[in-house]
This record gives sequence, C-alpha cells and structure tokens, in this order.
Amino acid sequence: MLTLVALCVALLLLLWWFCTATSSRQNKSKLSSTINGPKPWPVIGSLHLLGTHETPFQAFTALSKLYGDIFSINLGSSRCVVVNNLDLIREVLITKGSDFGGRPDFLRFHKLFGGDRNNSLALCDWSALQKTRRSIARTYCSPRFTSLQYDTVSQVGIDEMNVFIKELQKLPTEQPCDIKPVVLAACANMFTQYMCSTSFSYDDREFQKAVRFFDEIFWEINQGYAVDFLPWLLPIYKGHMEKISNWAKEIRQFILSRIIDKHRSTLDYNSPPRDFTDALLMHLEEDPNMNWEHIIFELEDFIGGHSAIGNLVMVTLASIVNHPEVGNRIQKEIDTVTRGTRLPNLFDKAAMPYTEATIWETLRKASSPIVPHVASCDTEIDGFTVEKGTLIFINNYELNLGEQYWVDPEEFRPERFLTASGNVVKPAHFIPFSTGKRTCIGQRLVQCFSFLIVTTLLQQYNLATNGVAKTKPGCVAVPPDCFKFILTPRTKDDH
Ligand code: HEM
Repeated sequence: MLTLVALCVALLLLLWWFCTATSSRQNKSKLSSTINGPKPWPVIGSLHLLGTHETPFQAFTALSKLYGDIFSINLGSSRCVVVNNLDLIREVLITKGSDFGGRPDFLRFHKLFGGDRNNSLALCDWSALQKTRRSIARTYCSPRFTSLQYDTVSQVGIDEMNVFIKELQKLPTEQPCDIKPVVLAACANMFTQYMCSTSFSYDDREFQKAVRFFDEIFWEINQGYAVDFLPWLLPIYKGHMEKISNWAKEIRQFILSRIIDKHRSTLDYNSPPRDFTDALLMHLEEDPNMNWEHIIFELEDFIGGHSAIGNLVMVTLASIVNHPEVGNRIQKEIDTVTRGTRLPNLFDKAAMPYTEATIWETLRKASSPIVPHVASCDTEIDGFTVEKGTLIFINNYELNLGEQYWVDPEEFRPERFLTASGNVVKPAHFIPFSTGKRTCIGQRLVQCFSFLIVTTLLQQYNLATNGVAKTKPGCVAVPPDCFKFILTPRTKDDH
C-alpha cells in the first residue's frame, strides 16, 4: 500500500514538473525573456531563494542587485514580478493601479473569510462592490482633522484611556509582565466603541477570546507559508487551515451576538446613522448589490484593524525600551504638553512631533509588507510585458531600508522625520500604508490610537525589559505571546 502511495506521489510530482516546465517554456516569450530573473527549479520554482534571508523582502533586495529593479521569479506555480524602486512602485500602484487591482488566490485567505477571500476588503480583487465598501468606510475610518468624526475619535480615545490606566494599575510592577492583552483590549474597545457604540469589560471572557483570535489571525496573515505557492501541500496544512477558519467563525459569532443583534433592534432608519454599524445596516436597505454577508464581513474587517494598531504599539514600545533615550524624550514632550495634570489627547499630537516621529520611525524599521497585488489584465511595467494573473510584490522593504533613500538606514533615529525647526516631515518614498486605489483605509485611525496608547502608557510608567525586546524585520506583527515589559510607575520627581 505504502509503495503504491509513494508511486502515485512520484507520478504526480513528475506530472507537476512537466506542466511547470511546459508552462514556463510557453511563458518564456512573454515573461522570462522580457523580464530578467532567477531560473526556476522544478516544482518549487525559486521558493528556496526566499529562505536564504530572515525575511523574503531582504531576499528580494538581494536578488534585485543581481537581476535589476524589476525582476521575475516563479514561486511554486505562481509567476511573480518584484518591483524594487519608487518609480516602478508608483507605476504599479498609481499610474496603472487599475491593471493591478487583484490579490493573490491563497487558500489561507479563503479560509479566513468564510470560504471566499472576496468577502474581505483587503484580500479581494478590485470590483464595483469594493469601491462601494471603501466609500462607506471612508467617512468613519479616515476621519479628517477638522471633522465631527475626529472629535468623536478623540472622545472615544479619552474615555478608553481612563479605563486603560485602571487596567494597567492591576498589573504587577517591577517584574516582567505581559501587557499585550491589555493593550489589545484597549484598542479593541476604542474600535468597537467608535464603530459600533459598544465596549466591553476587560474581564469579559468572550471579549478576551475574540481579541485573542483577532490577534492570532493578524500574526497568521503576516506570515508566509509554502502552501500559499504549493497548494498541493494542503493535506499537510489541513489542521492549521481548520484552526484559522474556526478562529474566524468564533469572531463572527461574537460580532453577531454581542454587537449587531443589539444594534439592529435599536436602529432608527429615519435618523442619521449613529456610527459605522448603523451606516452599514442602512446601506443594506438601499443597495441591492450588498447583502447581509457583505455587512458582517466589512464590520469584522474593520474591527479587526485594532489588532494591527495593538501590534504596532507593541513594536513601538519595543523600539523605545531598546533605545531608552527615545523614551526619555517622549516623556519630556508629554510632561511639557500636559504639565502632569491631565492625560494626553489627540489635540496634543501637533505639539508632540518627536512622539509622532518615533511612530513613523517604528513603521519604517518594521517595514510591514504591502499585500501583493495581481495583474487583472495583460499589461506592462516599465515597457515589459506582464501577463494577467501575475503576482506583483512591492518591495517597500527596499524603500524603507535602502541606502539610496536614507542615511544610516539601520539606525533607529526618529529625528530623521523632523525638520530643523522640529516639524514632522515624511519623504515621498516613505509609503508604509501604500498608495493608489488600494491604499490603507485605516491609516488615520492608526495614527490617532497608537499615539494615545503610547503617550498614556509612557506618561504613567517607565518601561524596561529583561534583555532586548526582539521583533521580526519586515513585519509589524509580534507573536500573540511575545516579550514582556517591566512597568515602574513614574513618581512626581520623574515628571
Ligand atoms: C500598523 C497599522 C497598519 C499598517 C502598517 C497598514 C498597512 C496597510 C497596507 C500596506 C495595505 C495594503 C495596500 C495595498 O495593497 O496597496 C493596507 C490595506 C488595508 N488596510 Fe491597513 N494598515 C494598518 C492598519 C489598518 C487599520 C487599523 C485598518 C482598519 C481600520 C486598516 C484597513 C485596511 C484595509 C481595509 C485595507 C485594504 C484596502 C484595499 O485593499 O482596498 N489598516 N494596510
């Protein structure tokens, strides 16, 4: 029996090799001969080359030195193109944005979104539905500085920071302590309060579970797996796929039973929407192209944004403890602005450029990858032919850490985002939230809520670690169970 299975596997591999080689020969005239790149191995393509560095994006940078700023690479059976400089990246994301509006068809993405990745705002292909979903979200998820929405964000932030401090006070001091669950709960409550007018007790077991599952998914989505490019490995990943699909199901159940049911029963269609959830539910009545599933998934996607912010806060705090002089400067800024008499708030942000610069510098060094785009038609980049279905990797790791863009790029130095007169300035090549039609919708909320948590925490506590708080390059996520911090309450003398 075993021999028969081994024989079948060998035959399948042989067939696979043959198909890949044939399709590679067929594509040669269109792709490989036009765009340079490493020669693919049978079956795995050039996947092995990505394993030679700590992150695949470091490998892309190394390969660009050999093959040029645009090169082609086969990963398993997927044809990919990597673009490595600002002009090429702009061409893909802006000038030809509508040709590159697709997303990769990874099995994991389907598992996370009820069997269809097009349910997700970030992982779907571009469509009229996506345009509608983005436009409903824009008012709430991208509040302008002078808008009523911004005032609401600010008030939600102040209220939650008061609760956050009380929760921090329950944690042990002067010893390593896991603060991530409290940071994530604060982020989750700011999101659910702002978007759904609902918040939860930090002790609520169902809430804790949902926050944990969101965090597991955020970590998961930031990892690369061989099965993404070698789908025939699926049987090996079966258990893992079931696990992620169950996390998503439990989260959906929580949102339905603890948020949406209550909202629906109190919705008044004759009054203006109270929040994002109302706006979504009202839209459902008006737009025949949207259905109930779309609403649930959109809400889930946006509430899930809190994990990205919680993780960014953890990475920022790690940078701060690894560079104590940065923490001291932020605390000086906080004390000058608040005079130790009140909590920091969003309207202090303009007066605290060093703190803002520290968050930008954290984003630069973390250099979280831009989700790959996919060509939705036969098109070109820099005059080279790119076939429909080709995956495009945007190497923003190079934009964030390349010698030609930054002085001493490996140094953590927030001052690089400050002008001589102390104002925050971001160079055009710094695009941590991407650019073009699929740019991040949550970036304003990221700037608001990460600022509030970092400043509130550092106003109240000095932070330290046992050793170095290690983060992964090319990743803004830290594992659900990560490094611990030692909290020491600040005294009057510290201020
Ligand atoms: C650390 C924080 C975050 C970073 C670094 C980040 C970065 C990004 C990047 C690079 C993209 C891909 C854009 C592209 O493919 O061209 C993206 C897409 C997206 N982000 Fe964020 N993001 C963050 C937080 C958030 C939050 C808090 C939300 C929700 C409130 C959010 C909502 C979205 C959505 C919906 C998309 C998909 C847009 C589309 O494909 O049309 N993000 N983000």
